[in-house]
Amino acid sequence: MTTETTGKSMDEIVALCKRRGFIFPASEIYGGLNGFWDYGPLGVELKNNLRDAWWNDMVKSPPVGPDGEPISILGVDSSIIQHPKVWEASGHVGGFNDPMVDDKETKQRFRADHLVGLYGTHESCAEATALKQQIANIDENVLPKKTVVAQSPGEALAMLYSDKKLRRQLGIRGFTSAGSDEIASIAQVDLGNGDEWVSLSMVPPRAIELHAVKMPSPFTGKPGTLTEPRQFNLMFLTYYGAIFDEDHKTYLRPETAQGIFLNYKNVLDTMRVKVPFGIAQIGKAFRNEVTPRNFIFRSREFEQMEIEFFCHGDDAQKWYDFWCETRKNWWHSIGLTGDNIQMREHAKDELAHYAKEGCGCFDVEYRFPFTAPGYGELEGVAHRSNFDLSQHQEHARAKLEYFDQEAQVKAKEEGLPKEEIDRISKYLPHVIEPSAGLSRGVLALLCEAFTPTPERKGSKYVMKFHPRMAPIQAAIFPLVNKDGMPEKAQKLYDELRAQYTVQFDVKQSIGKRYARMDEAGTPYCFTIDSDTLEDDTVTVRERDTAEQARIGIDKVGEYLKDRILK
Ligand code: GAP
Repeated sequence: MTTETTGKSMDEIVALCKRRGFIFPASEIYGGLNGFWDYGPLGVELKNNLRDAWWNDMVKSPPVGPDGEPISILGVDSSIIQHPKVWEASGHVGGFNDPMVDDKETKQRFRADHLVGLYGTHESCAEATALKQQIANIDENVLPKKTVVAQSPGEALAMLYSDKKLRRQLGIRGFTSAGSDEIASIAQVDLGNGDEWVSLSMVPPRAIELHAVKMPSPFTGKPGTLTEPRQFNLMFLTYYGAIFDEDHKTYLRPETAQGIFLNYKNVLDTMRVKVPFGIAQIGKAFRNEVTPRNFIFRSREFEQMEIEFFCHGDDAQKWYDFWCETRKNWWHSIGLTGDNIQMREHAKDELAHYAKEGCGCFDVEYRFPFTAPGYGELEGVAHRSNFDLSQHQEHARAKLEYFDQEAQVKAKEEGLPKEEIDRISKYLPHVIEPSAGLSRGVLALLCEAFTPTPERKGSKYVMKFHPRMAPIQAAIFPLVNKDGMPEKAQKLYDELRAQYTVQFDVKQSIGKRYARMDEAGTPYCFTIDSDTLEDDTVTVRERDTAEQARIGIDKVGEYLKDRILK
């Protein structure tokens, strides 16, 4: 399928990834395992380049803060398996759920929120769109209108949510909603079309009309075979130790963030840092996604690159704005261009379980071929308030408060009242969290780079990676495998490989070797030919233009340095 807006086909991207050794289905020789992927030689280089660029630009050489000073970010690498109580405190045991409906006939499972498309604005959901269309076309699915009395659409939704009998009277077989006014008003907009599962309209001053339609099964198209939505926890359950019982139950981490919160005090006590500062971590996360899809976009095992930035609550908005801007610019800097990146603020009903009233979340979104013309989430920048630290403080009975002596002295000198001095100097920091998907970042880089080139002889596709991201940064080709050319090429290769990822290739025609490197996304190829033996110059060919030039063999290192190293 090729999307009109991007002109890029996911099928072709996935095929190229397999053919060239970027990404393979996990356990492929056993038929694969849904939601799991393996990275091949080129994929792992691409992923490592993205990971290293993030670590370098955020941790080793962090951005300059709003006050003109470089900010302080330190790294950790925490355990994937933590104490089971961590996940109770974090809210993942109670709240990390998706509402699911089962088809009683086929025994298949589907996300209820995708069924109704109530949350469908933030991620393209082809299933929801198709279903809405189906429902609109089946008159007998539309049930009689029913009026209930409530103070607001939100209250009516809450009634539906809690009152099974009312739902039965209305013929509603499943229901998903947080009961917020936003959802209700979305439903109001759709009133009259009969294309929403539950639509609400306010009849002034207090009556709410409910319009209900039976949902057909997304698998068979038949109405009436779906169960009511049930919560399905996304965490992978496991056991530690030899005994597999309740007391030894724990989970694979569903986010790297909690490992940071658990070490916040350790880092503070050992590293001479002061709030505001950040802790960064890159690592695997596991979610038993109900519907893994779109290649590596939504998988069950993936990697995240997360920063928890600790600051005083008074400064949270300033840092939130700073991180939104910084993170968007960073994705631009590694080659995701122009309109393909956008920022989108979460609606209230989309906020994660840790987000409190007054807290916000911006997504950095990328226009993937399967979301175009819409966008899909690449990274979330969230204001988590002091939710996590206060939860861990309470559940672990640990003291996690921060004491800022300098602020206390200053506030005393200013003669502030005691309450204000304490508020300024003793507090649980608030957290701004830029949380990026490393695996999703790899997918965005692959989609951005993928360029069909019907006009180019030999290469059907060119992968136009930013040179800093390219899995192979340079290729060295002796034109022929004789006359001293391989030896000369080998010497250049040996010099470059200490610093760059370089490939040496003597096989096939030079055209075929260029085409191979175009699909691998290698930005520069250097060819050693008979002229090299005479005058020590080589041909450099640029991937994107296919243009060629001659430079001295002793200038190759500098040439690459100028273009690849930051
Ligand atoms: N600590 C906050 C947190 O985990 P999230 O929005 O659930 O927030 C952050 O995840 C990022 O992790 C997402 O923006 C996305 O890039 C990536 N991500 C989440 N679930 C994923 C999945 N199933 N497969 C691949 N990447 C995923």
